[in-house]
Amino acid sequence: QTVSVIGVPMTYGQPLLGTNFGPDMLRNAGLHKVITELGWCAEENGNLEIAPPTVNDPVIDPDFGNAKSSFAVGNSIKQLADIYEQKAREGKFNLVLGGDHTIGAGSLAGLLRVHPDAGIIWVDAHADINTPMTSESGNMHGMPISFLMENLVDCSKVPGFEWLADSPKLKPEQLVYIALRDVDQGEKRILRELGIKAFCMQSVDRYGIGRTMEMALDYLCAEKQRPIHMSYDIDAVDPVDAPSTGTRVRGGLTWREANYVAEAVAETNLLVGLDMVEVNPSLAPGKGADTTVDMALLLIGSALGRRIL
Ligand code: ARG
Ligand code: MN
Ligand code: MN
Ligand code: MN
Repeated sequence: QTVSVIGVPMTYGQPLLGTNFGPDMLRNAGLHKVITELGWCAEENGNLEIAPPTVNDPVIDPDFGNAKSSFAVGNSIKQLADIYEQKAREGKFNLVLGGDHTIGAGSLAGLLRVHPDAGIIWVDAHADINTPMTSESGNMHGMPISFLMENLVDCSKVPGFEWLADSPKLKPEQLVYIALRDVDQGEKRILRELGIKAFCMQSVDRYGIGRTMEMALDYLCAEKQRPIHMSYDIDAVDPVDAPSTGTRVRGGLTWREANYVAEAVAETNLLVGLDMVEVNPSLAPGKGADTTVDMALLLIGSALGRRIL
């Protein structure tokens, strides 16, 4: 079995430079060794080319709603959708290295072309389902799911995202969240209205991570097994163990809980792709960045099937 490594050094979905270093930091810290030691073949695709936004040109790059730099973001992640699709058709495991979380929209678009019925596990402090209209920050890393959810955003109107207009979309029941703890008002309304399943940190408090993952996987797969894609935002992890990220929220997953999430998903043998996003080594340079990169690498290993025994 082959892991296809795709670097997507995107930073324009949020205001802080640095997430563009994520993919190379992970490779330099030994990513390929992690992959091959677990018995997989590693296929390296390098980093996709991310074109920067044209600065404040209202003709070339107009804002849509509150969305900042949508033209640059949308056109760049189209490349990811295409390569994800191609590798998935070849039966390869897609390992997508961010970059900020806007790239999740590219992974999901590619995934759904091949597996329209796939299940999505979104591990994150945030729901990332703001639309360009509901977003208060305008940062597009808080929006990726909104573009893939059926009947939520008319992508034909969003500069840079037109290519997503006729793409296969998600039904609410294809998505579960793990580790939420900072959800905006507009997002709460969307989650409620669409009936999206969310296991927030209170669920982890109440049931423990074991039972929480059992419920999440049952929800997606009890009736019939389906391919799963996991989109893992490093800010799901408590800032103690992952300080180097742009939108830290206290009260996150512990080191073991974070790994257990990935281990439990790996055990299903249904995982076809993983995004590891929002590692920003510039934000806690030195020890904080090292800790965060280590954590991301461990989580990748856990998702690829590493076991303690
Ligand atoms: N909900 C906030 C927003 O829309 C934060 C989003 C953070 N997203 C992330 N991928 N870290 O601005
Ligand atoms: Mn987040
Ligand atoms: Mn908030
Ligand atoms: Mn996120």
